Amino acid sequence: ALPPLDQCLNLYDFEVVAKKVLKPTAWAYYSSGADDEVTMRENSSAYGRIWFRPRILRDVSKVDFSTTLLGQKSSLPIYITATALGRLGHPDGEKNLTIAAGKEGVIQMIPTLASCSFEEIVGARVREDQVQFFQLYVNANRSITEKLVKKAEAAGVKGLFVTVDAPQLGRREKDMRMKFDDVGSRVQNDGKESVDRSQGAARAISSFIDPSLNWKDLEWLRKVTKMPIVLKGVQAWEDAVKAAELGLAGVVLSNHGGRQLDYARSGIEVLEEVVSALKQRGLFPNPKFEIFIDGGVRRASDVLKAVAMGATAVGIGRPFLYAYSAYGHAGVEHALQLLKAEMEMNMRLIGAPTLKDVVPEMVDTRALSAH
Ligand code: FNR
Repeated sequence: ALPPLDQCLNLYDFEVVAKKVLKPTAWAYYSSGADDEVTMRENSSAYGRIWFRPRILRDVSKVDFSTTLLGQKSSLPIYITATALGRLGHPDGEKNLTIAAGKEGVIQMIPTLASCSFEEIVGARVREDQVQFFQLYVNANRSITEKLVKKAEAAGVKGLFVTVDAPQLGRREKDMRMKFDDVGSRVQNDGKESVDRSQGAARAISSFIDPSLNWKDLEWLRKVTKMPIVLKGVQAWEDAVKAAELGLAGVVLSNHGGRQLDYARSGIEVLEEVVSALKQRGLFPNPKFEIFIDGGVRRASDVLKAVAMGATAVGIGRPFLYAYSAYGHAGVEHALQLLKAEMEMNMRLIGAPTLKDVVPEMVDTRALSAH
């Protein structure tokens, strides 16, 4: 039997429960990282090398952690990032995330490779003004991608996150050892082409992603849509500067949850060099170019470290998958409520009544890149 939901005291607790309830194939797909999983572990441990410099005697009786992402309101500087194959964990799949996001006032990024159809996910919105983003894998057949993007825009999606760190899927060996027998996804081709299920879920669904994708394609994409375009998976300041100079809406500093290039650095470490390079060029701060990061964020303290260092918001992936696999949308709501409670406490203890007060001087990052 599952422990009652209120016994989950933090985001890590959902992982423990999910491991017990998920089928081995689903657990392998959700939990795995690439190769030796060094980057996946580093995503968490990097936050452990940053310390706070709290300020005292500030009035923190009221604490406000609401913000905007790409101009859209959010109750937290946190969004639910795109994770494929949501139905492997729960029959309602990604709809659990939509419901919880709406109830708790955060933004969900809908994956290209969702198991629920795009229409089902949009149809599960619980509020009129509920905001969603869309994560795009660019298909070698550009007309398929064009249709998909236009459909998203027509459905009121407010931001397009183009995944740029996956020209080839990483080797997730835990996943590859499993024979993927679930029809977890209506892949883009709607099952018209057969997929190879012998090498795990990830390889079965990803064959259409175009490895020829390059900077020139972004010019094409900007003509296809008016949605703000953000590059998801930037890992070096040179690419972040290029994205800013091109006038894109932002970047996500991410290594795909440690599932792509092993020995990629953590997003939080990349954040430091990206902000400094943008500053040197007069490109930061810039309300028209936002920096997001994801990977290993599990505590409000992680979130506040990222915000202090210049991130607008952070994405969280696996914990929400684990939460709904065990408890449905109520699990995700509880996870978000835990994060809100942690935010309130942490902001009081660092002396920051609003996110604007969470400034670079509040963190000591001297140990961050010394490893
Ligand atoms: C992902 N991620 C991902 N990213 C993306 O751009 N397209 C995708 O289809 C997927 N699919 C996916 C599936 C699963 C099971 C996981 C765990 C992750 C990466 C995701 O958006 C994000 O970068 C990481 O999940 C963030 O790390 P944490 O929070 O899971 O540690």
